[in-house]
Amino acid sequence: MEEHLTVGRVAELADVSVRTLHHYDAIGLVQPSARTSAGYRAYSAGDVERLREVLAYRRLGFGLREIADLVDDPATDAVAHLHRLRGLLLDQRDRAAGMVTAIDRELEARAMGIRTTPEEQLKVFGAQLYEAIGSAYPATRRTEPRIAARVWDALGDARTVLNVGAGTGSYEPPDRDVTAVEPSAVMRAQRPAGAAPCVAARAESLPFEDQSFDAAMAFSTVHHWQDPIAGLREMRRVARRVVVFTHDASDTGWRQRFWLTRDYLPEVAGLVAGRPSVDQLASTIGARLEPVLIPWDCADGFFEAYWRRPEAYLDEHVRRAISVWTRVGPEAEQRAVNRLRDDLSSGRWAERNRDLVALDAAELGLRLLVA
Ligand SMILES: C[S@@+](CC[C@H](N)C(=O)[O-])C[C@H]1O[C@@H](n2cnc3c(N)ncnc32)[C@H](O)[C@@H]1O
Repeated sequence: MEEHLTVGRVAELADVSVRTLHHYDAIGLVQPSARTSAGYRAYSAGDVERLREVLAYRRLGFGLREIADLVDDPATDAVAHLHRLRGLLLDQRDRAAGMVTAIDRELEARAMGIRTTPEEQLKVFGAQLYEAIGSAYPATRRTEPRIAARVWDALGDARTVLNVGAGTGSYEPPDRDVTAVEPSAVMRAQRPAGAAPCVAARAESLPFEDQSFDAAMAFSTVHHWQDPIAGLREMRRVARRVVVFTHDASDTGWRQRFWLTRDYLPEVAGLVAGRPSVDQLASTIGARLEPVLIPWDCADGFFEAYWRRPEAYLDEHVRRAISVWTRVGPEAEQRAVNRLRDDLSSGRWAERNRDLVALDAAELGLRLLVA
């Protein structure tokens, strides 16, 4: 019986009751394939794998009947389940981060004697990350013309362009026929008057026919998608050219190269762990990779934009328009900001980053994928 686990041991390891396991057995959800000589239920490695999937979907809030359909689907193998579970868990974590931000905002408002409306109070529960932080976005996020030029150049002679994860439309080329896709209502509502028409949808399931556009672009959004590979495949399906601006999240490409992640916010490692590498993203669409240097005075306030203007990260408005700061949680954020403030006033930051001051543009792992 070495390769089997008894019901008691499985219950202990998974932190569920034996009664729960008996119930799963009775309804046919996870039926242990063997019995010990004493007649107890015994779980094989395959049974445990199935149980693991069931418990993970359960923890995500799925009902038992729904779970049975998911784990019985012959088209989904263990690896596909792990990918799906991972995406769902990341989504849940981002929602929780969104809720914390919305609650912090309400606490601040209450402390100033401002009562939030019933509508605002209920919004907390529907909080997607960008529903919570999206309203802070326009303060510092705008088109960086030098990077926009690179994207528009890569679009070639495309006349019709789909902009996926379009946000407020910062990088939409003004001289082409653009259609935008954006799942967040808060972001859609902030698109300027006269902006391209915008469809409420997700990259992973684009509501367009095959090859409907000359080109599809995605700027600074792929890292938010639940399933980046599925989203890129969708872009490939609907357009004959694909242009993506993203970052190389590997240790050498990004995390260790940028002083902010290296010296102040090691938590970003947890945010990017297990995400597809930039090479995997590129090979999904058959793209070539082009480095994009960030000018020292970058106009778009994304995460890496202020590499030569470190004081900017002390500004709450700057941080609220950068999702990383919300995703790492308030404790890590406060610790990093306090440490940076100390290092700036003691001269330690300047000493450590002496070589940056002479640079006009920095290579911090940002990449253009062109297919
Ligand atoms: C950092 S913003 C970038 C917005 C815009 N591309 C820009 O550069 O200003 C990321 C955007 O991705 C959107 N997003 C999140 N998940 C998405 C998904 N699954 N499919 C498409 N867009 C998504 C967010 O709502 C948000 O507007």
